[in-house]
Amino acid sequence: MSPPGYRSSFAQWETRASVRSRPRRHPTAVLGPDQVFFPPELFPVLSAPALADLDPAARQSILQHALYQYLHFTTVLEQHAVLPVTSAISLGDVGIALPEAMRADAYKITTDEAWHAQFAYDFIAELHAETGVPSSALVRPRFVTDLARLREEVEPSLRRLADLLFTTVSETLVSQLLMDIPRDGRIPDPIREVVADHAMDEGRHQTYFRQFLRELWTQLGTAERRFAGPLIPRLVEIFLAPDLGSVEAILRQAGLAPTVVSTALRETYAAVPEGRLAAEARVTVRLFDEVGALDDHATRAAFTTAGLVPA
Ligand SMILES: [Fe+2]
Ligand SMILES: [Fe+2]
Repeated sequence: MSPPGYRSSFAQWETRASVRSRPRRHPTAVLGPDQVFFPPELFPVLSAPALADLDPAARQSILQHALYQYLHFTTVLEQHAVLPVTSAISLGDVGIALPEAMRADAYKITTDEAWHAQFAYDFIAELHAETGVPSSALVRPRFVTDLARLREEVEPSLRRLADLLFTTVSETLVSQLLMDIPRDGRIPDPIREVVADHAMDEGRHQTYFRQFLRELWTQLGTAERRFAGPLIPRLVEIFLAPDLGSVEAILRQAGLAPTVVSTALRETYAAVPEGRLAAEARVTVRLFDEVGALDDHATRAAFTTAGLVPA
C-alpha cells in the first residue's frame, strides 16, 4: 500500500521490470543492406562537410563505435551516478524524510539500474566477440569529469544534495535515444530490444523521481533552495552537452587525420542549435517549475541564461 501522496509505479514490478521479465538480448554480427548499428542523425558529426567523402565501411565502423560509447555511457551513468543515490534513498540516507513505500521502491530502482549497467556492459563484450571489432575508442564519459569538477566547487555539506539533483535531472530527462532507437527500423532487433528494455524501466523511474523531487524540494530550507536552484541548469548541461572527446576518439579510430577530425568537430559543434537544450530538457524543466524552483529570482535567471526557459 502506498501512503497518501505517493503513488507507486512499481506494483507490477515483478512481472514488468526488464530484469524480472525480459530475456537476455544477444547481438548479431551481420547487418542487413540498409541496417546501421546506431542512428546516424544521433551522431551528427557524420553530416559535417569535412566528412562528405567518408566511405561506407568507415561510416559503419564509426556508427558501431558510437553504439559502443552509448552503451558505455549507460553503464557509467548507472554505476557512477544513479546507483549510489538510489542505494542511499533505499537506506533512508539522503537527509530527508520519505514515505516507507518510496524507500522500498528505491530498492527496485537500484536493481533495475544495476541490470541496465550489466546488460549494456555485456552487450559491448558480445558485440565485440560477434563482429571481431573491439571497443577500442571507449572513453570515460565527459559528465564524470564535469560532475567531479562541480562537486569540488561545492561546499562539502552540499555535495550530497548536488548528487541527488544530478540523479533527479538524469532520471527525469528520459533521453531521446531511449525513445528513438526502439522505433528505428534501420537498427537490428537485438539493439532495439536492449534499448526498449531500458526505456520501459526508465518510464517508471521518471514517475518515481517526479515524486521524489516534490518531497526533496518541500523539505529543503531556504538556503539550500538558493544553492540548488541555480545549480540545476548546470546539471542539465553536464548531462546533455555533447562529448567531444568521445566523438574525436571515434573518428580517430576510423583512421581520419587529426586535421579532418578537428574541422568536422568545429563544423558540427561550433554553435549550439537554438532551443536544443530546452527541447531535450522540457519535461525536467517543467517538473522543477511545478515544485516552485523557478519562483526564486536567481534560479529563474540561471534557467534563462542557459536557454532553458524564455527570457
Ligand atoms: Fe537505467
Ligand atoms: Fe533509471
